[in-house]
Amino acid sequence: MTWQPDPERYTSMEYRRCGRSGLKLPAISLGLWHNFGDETLLETSRQLLRKAFDLGITHFDLANNYGPPPGSAESNFGRILREDFQAWRDELIISTKAGYTMWDGPYGDWGSRKYLISSLDQSLKRMGLEYVDIFYHHRPDPDTPLEETMRALDHVVRQGKALYVGISNYPADRAEQAINILNDLGTPCLIHQPRYSLFERWVEGGLLDMLQEKGVGSIAFSPLAGGQLTDRYLGGIPADSRAASGSRFLNPDQITEEKLAKVRKLNALAEKRGQKLSQMALAWVLRDEKITSVLIGASKTSQIEDAVGMLSKRGFSEQERAAIEAILV
Ligand SMILES: NC(=O)c1ccc[n+]([C@@H]2O[C@H](COP(=O)([O-])OP(=O)(O)OC[C@H]3O[C@@H](n4cnc5c(N)ncnc54)[C@H](OP(=O)(O)O)[C@@H]3O)[C@@H](O)[C@H]2O)c1
Repeated sequence: MTWQPDPERYTSMEYRRCGRSGLKLPAISLGLWHNFGDETLLETSRQLLRKAFDLGITHFDLANNYGPPPGSAESNFGRILREDFQAWRDELIISTKAGYTMWDGPYGDWGSRKYLISSLDQSLKRMGLEYVDIFYHHRPDPDTPLEETMRALDHVVRQGKALYVGISNYPADRAEQAINILNDLGTPCLIHQPRYSLFERWVEGGLLDMLQEKGVGSIAFSPLAGGQLTDRYLGGIPADSRAASGSRFLNPDQITEEKLAKVRKLNALAEKRGQKLSQMALAWVLRDEKITSVLIGASKTSQIEDAVGMLSKRGFSEQERAAIEAILV
């Protein structure tokens, strides 16, 4: 028999309005940056997606270059969508992005109209979709006029290839300019996707306030700092962890004694609250109503269960907030 999602799936999740749009996102979203490329067994990726949807996670986040190799996360996701999720397409919010290096030559990178429009066409083919729900410009391009990049986003919405558009990794001033241009074009910016966690707090320096004022939502990526804000590395570097995987983005040298000392203290605080550190780290990012959703990664279904388990213990007392600030200095 074909797989059927849990009929109770909408009881375990909270859905939060994305800025001043009509769209609600789950408080927890799943990213396909790791564990969906060709180096991962398709069955492992399938189980992660099924578990997420069963727990009410309706938003899956991709990019043209996710893999490895680049493009393979979209192809594998497309296959699982066809095989398992076809009947539930309208219950899903699927995003993809273009902005980092994707193919050779001058048209496979950054922010030109040429790159963005052809990249989205490629992504749709790989995923076997007629449209994505959100298309992002993945990073600011210092050389392409912002008007050109934003016009390309406006264009794909008018073509029906994306329902909404967003920007990622844009600093506050550039983000504000992009949002203003999109408003003038009549395609409001739905969402900004910045990195945000207990360890990475640049968004607190003006970006989140600006987004709120403009009515734009935000989805925080790497809220667990790639696994550092969990109990994963407290007893060394496990062989099946991201830091041991040869990742360019998290290597054993980054798991410093100084960082581990903070993680141990945060872990003790989380235990006192009766939850795991990973759960406290997610609850902390979501404490700010300006954050629409936390965008997690997972290598095991139990990690998705942990994340959703966080929703039952969300609040922080003044003392807990102060204790966290004292640990982070
Ligand atoms: N826009 C951008 O430029 C950008 C950049 C990066 C990421 N993203 C998006 O954000 C998503 C999430 O990024 P991320 O994977 O770095 O997020 P993350 O949530 O900070 O890290 C996820 C990793 O933490 C570990 N983990 C998760 N739950 C755990 C638990 N309960 N206990 C122990 N370890 C746990 C797992 O690593 P192990 O493999 O060690 O188990 C997991 O793969 C990506 O998939 C992508 O969609 C966007």
